[in-house]
Amino acid sequence: MEFRDVVRRRRMVRKYDDRPVDPAVVDRMLEHAVRAPSAGFSQGWAFLRLDSPDDLDRFWRATTPEEEEGMSGWLDGMRTAPVVIVPLSNKDAYLDRYAQPDKGWTDRDEARWPVPYWHIDTGMATLLILQTAVDEGFGACFFGIPPDRIDAFREEFGVPRDHTPIGAITVGHRAQDPGSAGSAARRPRRTPAEVVHHGRWGGKG
Ligand SMILES: Cc1cc2nc3c(=O)[nH]c(=O)nc-3n(C[C@H](O)[C@H](O)[C@H](O)COP(=O)(O)O)c2cc1C
Repeated sequence: MEFRDVVRRRRMVRKYDDRPVDPAVVDRMLEHAVRAPSAGFSQGWAFLRLDSPDDLDRFWRATTPEEEEGMSGWLDGMRTAPVVIVPLSNKDAYLDRYAQPDKGWTDRDEARWPVPYWHIDTGMATLLILQTAVDEGFGACFFGIPPDRIDAFREEFGVPRDHTPIGAITVGHRAQDPGSAGSAARRPRRTPAEVVHHGRWGGKG
């Protein structure tokens, strides 16, 4: 598929049919994820790959907010995914990397960071996973894990405290039109003309 088609066709898919995903496809998603850029080449990311019914069940039980359990809705659709990938960021990898002699931030002061690059880089890797799903003919959706479920998630999967899940990605064969569901589906996409400031704030095109 042409890259421009991958970009244009990528929409979040929140319901999947019961066909499995070839593990080789998931391998390619993860191979692409580690091609993402990272500050100082810190690569402070990790990915939890879940694809057995038992692991998926444990994931949903740990992360679903209590008030939504048993309710039909977008989460019911998401639970039909045969694969979940959880991208995790590791802040310490950045503080360690930037304390090295070529960077010299030996105080490990977080105020030096204009924005949390550990989350940014893991987000870039996540986009490569979403785009690879489209390129391979699959659907995927990135979604948040509620803050009050993070500890339960960590405990369930033995995730160390220095790794933070930035969200999770469902992957599978599409059972709905991409981008057709979700509370944000009716919002219009903002155009470049609305968001680009050329040369100065307010400058056109
Ligand atoms: C950081 C982030 C968090 C998101 N969280 C959720 C979520 O919790 N549930 C959900 O259904 N979609 C979630 N989405 C998907 C957005 O709703 C979606 O990207 C947006 O509506 C634009 O639609 P599109 O990605 O299909 O083009 C999230 C997307 C991002 C980037």
